[in-house]
Amino acid sequence: MVSTKVKLCSLELDNPVIPASGTFGFGYEFAELYDINILGSISLKGTTAQPRFGNPTPRIAECPAGMINSVGLQNPGIDAVISQELPKLAECFSKPAIANISGFSVEEYVECCSKADKAEQIGILEVNVSCPNVHNGGMSFGTSPEAAAEITRAVKAVTTKPVFIKLTPNVTDIVSIAKACEEAGADGLSLINTMLGMRINLKTKKPVIANKMGGFSGSAIFPVALRMVYQVYEAVKIPIIGMGGVSSAQDVIEMMLAGATAVQIGAQNLVDPYACKNIIESLPGVMQEYSINNLEDIIGGAH
Ligand code: FUM
Repeated sequence: MVSTKVKLCSLELDNPVIPASGTFGFGYEFAELYDINILGSISLKGTTAQPRFGNPTPRIAECPAGMINSVGLQNPGIDAVISQELPKLAECFSKPAIANISGFSVEEYVECCSKADKAEQIGILEVNVSCPNVHNGGMSFGTSPEAAAEITRAVKAVTTKPVFIKLTPNVTDIVSIAKACEEAGADGLSLINTMLGMRINLKTKKPVIANKMGGFSGSAIFPVALRMVYQVYEAVKIPIIGMGGVSSAQDVIEMMLAGATAVQIGAQNLVDPYACKNIIESLPGVMQEYSINNLEDIIGGAH
């Protein structure tokens, strides 16, 4: 009998598989399809202080082995998430969830994180300093070590739950940003968010996406994500949630060997809404195939 359990800061997860923010709504939408309590946790849709309609359409472009999105942080705002979305999730999910928080100023991150921190259902705060689809916020905080550290310190000052900073791959040196977040008090890191990309429509000769560019995700980016998790693991002591193109139980194991304690599944949920279920169900068999008895033992095993 193999063990898929992992410990992520104070949380004991039945398995390391977590749907990534923005690909699984607020979780309850998927409860119609299967019992979502099989998941390790859920990272909820990125939330800001005020409700946001998001970017103009088209917001999606298909690509070989991936997709580009420019959703623009569409969400109902932190107060509605707490008063309306979390109660709906509570009806079908009994484990701690991950609040994914975005913002346009340090004050906004502080406000949202301090509210999410007080919600009983929230076990981890994932602070998104890496959204490529908004101006003057999101990724602009995650491309400099100083700005990422400033957000980390400000959020840590008003929260009690583990704070994971979600990093962008759209930088020259992700390791320096990871280290700055750790030094500023982050309890963990989530990486990677999407890679900035674009497509052009040959008929119109214009960008496919109204916002011109967006975040590229899907299995095509897996080797880049794996490389960054590997590099960051060598540089920090705090746990890493690895993500970026993870599509199978084999990918989960690879991510953990690179250094991830837990693994998020993103674009694959949009290809197959049962992706997380299928990965969780196939994990024990794949572990046996590679003589792995305890998933926790393999974290960072490739180093
Ligand atoms: O545009 C979006 O809502 C995506 C957010 C993100 O990639 O962090």
